[in-house]
Amino acid sequence: MDDKARRNRPTSASFFYHHHQQHFLLLIFLFCYCFFPQLFVKAEVEAKTVGYGYRIRSAAVDSSEKSLTADLGLIKNSSVYGPDIQSLHLFASYETTDRLRVRITDSKNQRWEIPQDIISRQLSYPSHRRFLTESSLLSDPTSDLVFTLHNTTPFGFSVSRRSSGDVLFDTSPSGSSTFLVFKDQYIQLSSALPKERSHLYGLGEHTKRSFKLTPKETLTLWNADLGSANLDVNLYGSHPFYMDVRSPTGTTHGVLLLNSNGMDVVYDGDRITYKVIGGIVDLYFFAGPSPDAVVQQYTELIGRPAPMLVLCLSVFETMLVIDDGRFHQCRWGYQNVSDVEGVVAGYAKAKIPLEVMWTDIDYMDAFKDFTLDPVNFPVDLMKTFVDTLHQNGQKYVLILDPGINVNKTYGTFSRGMQADIFIKRDGVPYLGQVWPGPVYFPDFVNPATATFWEGEIKLFQEILPVDGLWLDMNELSNFITSNSTQFSTLDDPPYKINNEGIKRPINNKTVPATALHFRNITEYNAHNLYGLLEAKATNAALINVIGKRPFILSRSTFVSSGKYTAHWTGDNAATWDDLAYTIPSILSFGLFGIPMVGADICGFSGNTNEELCRRWIQLGAFYPFARDHSSKETIRQELYLWDSVAASARKVLGLRYRLLPYLYTLMFEAHTKGTPIARPFFFSFPQDTKTYEISTQFFIGKGVMVSPVLKQGAVSVDAYFPKGNWFDLFNYSNSVSANSGKQIRLDAPPDHINVHVREGSILALQGEAMTTKAARKTPFELLVVMTSRGENSTGEVFLDDGEEVEMGAEGGEWSLVKFYGGIVNDKVMLRSEVVNGDFALSQKWIIDKVTVIGIEKFKRLRRCELSTSRGRKLIEKTAVNEMVNNNTQFRTIEISKL
Ligand code: NOJ
Repeated sequence: MDDKARRNRPTSASFFYHHHQQHFLLLIFLFCYCFFPQLFVKAEVEAKTVGYGYRIRSAAVDSSEKSLTADLGLIKNSSVYGPDIQSLHLFASYETTDRLRVRITDSKNQRWEIPQDIISRQLSYPSHRRFLTESSLLSDPTSDLVFTLHNTTPFGFSVSRRSSGDVLFDTSPSGSSTFLVFKDQYIQLSSALPKERSHLYGLGEHTKRSFKLTPKETLTLWNADLGSANLDVNLYGSHPFYMDVRSPTGTTHGVLLLNSNGMDVVYDGDRITYKVIGGIVDLYFFAGPSPDAVVQQYTELIGRPAPMLVLCLSVFETMLVIDDGRFHQCRWGYQNVSDVEGVVAGYAKAKIPLEVMWTDIDYMDAFKDFTLDPVNFPVDLMKTFVDTLHQNGQKYVLILDPGINVNKTYGTFSRGMQADIFIKRDGVPYLGQVWPGPVYFPDFVNPATATFWEGEIKLFQEILPVDGLWLDMNELSNFITSNSTQFSTLDDPPYKINNEGIKRPINNKTVPATALHFRNITEYNAHNLYGLLEAKATNAALINVIGKRPFILSRSTFVSSGKYTAHWTGDNAATWDDLAYTIPSILSFGLFGIPMVGADICGFSGNTNEELCRRWIQLGAFYPFARDHSSKETIRQELYLWDSVAASARKVLGLRYRLLPYLYTLMFEAHTKGTPIARPFFFSFPQDTKTYEISTQFFIGKGVMVSPVLKQGAVSVDAYFPKGNWFDLFNYSNSVSANSGKQIRLDAPPDHINVHVREGSILALQGEAMTTKAARKTPFELLVVMTSRGENSTGEVFLDDGEEVEMGAEGGEWSLVKFYGGIVNDKVMLRSEVVNGDFALSQKWIIDKVTVIGIEKFKRLRRCELSTSRGRKLIEKTAVNEMVNNNTQFRTIEISKL
């Protein structure tokens, strides 16, 4: 008996129950009939209307009241999608104070579940139980989540919030809806939702008009290379996770169905129904109650986002490491090394910062991974090119596709064959077709594949030292659809998910579902995991090979991919619509625990144009991951090609550079807590219900608001300002005061994007620069934005050397400096507190300038007092270098050697 079967075996208590079942049931019946007659009436009515489902045969709670088990028996077969599973086992447990798990599976046969080494979960399964005889609660007083098992016919369960009584998930049967159907290749699970109060986000990956899910949609999850220019269809990744923000309080919880099989999630507004073609029901409820807390709790389970892409900046002698603040340039179709060199030179000439140069599949010899085209990208020229990039403080990233060309003269192929690591069908490696022609696909479920992959990366790294890897086509994308060799319900499951929006067979242009991975795991079950597993192997390989914090960009993702990789939204189109859709996509990935996300700036397919590209770089400069990328059949779109685009790029990338310390600190927050870098408005303002609908603006961190132009020809933008005072981050002026949230029309001339900072923020900024090398020489500035009451402004900056694989690890070389600002006794008081201060002190970290804005109404201000770990400094008003007179909204205090 394996471990799982052993766990599912009845305990001695339930064994007793089964053997004395009839007596026991009679007693329960008499007891309940006398004391709870209403229970029977209800059950009868529901049994008539619903007809099928499962009833509770037995249920028990463990002695600590933290978990509950129930054995469920089928009432009646349903007629479609194959025979029902007769007996199910339900296990509900508090895994942490904020996380409740409800797992339902076949009680007799082991079913596919995502292996523990891919996403590890708790397995505790206590054995001391107390029996339940009626509808019963599982209610841990330390948790705000309450689980109720309804002993109705059919049975149901609900999860509610203790503090408010709000029902969060409710599978109790109602009307004609069937909440649980469980067959071998079809599981249906459904919950009622309070239509007016429930606002859902997540369940990707899809390109959508609106960030908030709109009722009457079917969200299909089945990884596919469909191009993100296609609205509402399944795309490259699968994330069966949603966040439910309840109005009017903004109290938020999260729900994950941890299942890797294909599924449709039907959202009707007042109901959510999962229709899944395999696996088990493994639901996780995250208590929140804030959106922030939900992502923290979600990423606690699935893994926190990886620290990524290191960029060194220094202040004076200080090495300060900044994450992906850099701007990236890529294109499919660069002809040769001098073409790419010309692009780097073009950026330099136009004085637009370019930190990372990329090459697409063009660099390869006949599209074979780990090779260089001997004619157009010969090794000697490439080496010189990459060396020069490195000397200039720039980085180089290149693409890898999973398909390994079947070619006996190709070393990678031979080594792969020898290691026997390819996905198989009918006992031989499955033959697909991608760019190089015939390919086999490495099976990343097999641990030996990670070893093979690392070996290939190491060999290539010795030829060309790259700084990061870009993983494309890993859904898996296949140029052919293979016919089944023999009929299998895996290739053609009874329930057809809405693949490609037209119920296209799941085998369409991918590896067939009957193909086998390691230990005979079928592609049917593991399909959605491919990109995750490839990213995991690549991350480990890069860490081992380069010994530094790696950068990985993956197109396909699944739950927990953020632990290993960044993501871009794939093949969008150079259209105004697609420009706008990037915001919902990027915000969704923040919820999925993949904060380092961006979209192809200026558009991937189709020709872009000057105005669109200008507006796109204005927005894209604030994507957490900012890369211009285009398809080879389009016109070139490097930012320096149009004067107006170049000017905008200088302006917005200049601000991005200044914000690098802020962005890097947000990466640290993401890595330690899971909090997204680009955030929806309701993260900062959950109680402002007007923020729930916003899909055209977003926040960077807590206090920086981005309101881009998304329409052709527009020179103004209608922006929503939540309550508070807001300042233009380009010039610290034009404050907007909103007593409560309000919609404001802002000027947005062709060269301008509106970016505002909220009162109460303290941002650590750095100077504008062309490269990190230059940025090293720029001083730090602290921007203190006073609140209207002159109190409680806060901010922080994370500092480390950026080389370490871990970020903020115990005993590591890093510091976190927290700032507190306010006005006390007519003095601006600014205090800093250093966590893990040795690093900051050893590096002689210096703030050169403090700018305080929002103090114009504090007329009596006399002095500024700054206290840091190095002591205190008082600046008399006379010594304050006031840049402008008292009528202005800001004063700049120059501080040297503080
Ligand atoms: C598809 C990717 O999505 C795109 O970014 C890339 O340029 C092409 N493959 C070619 O590699």
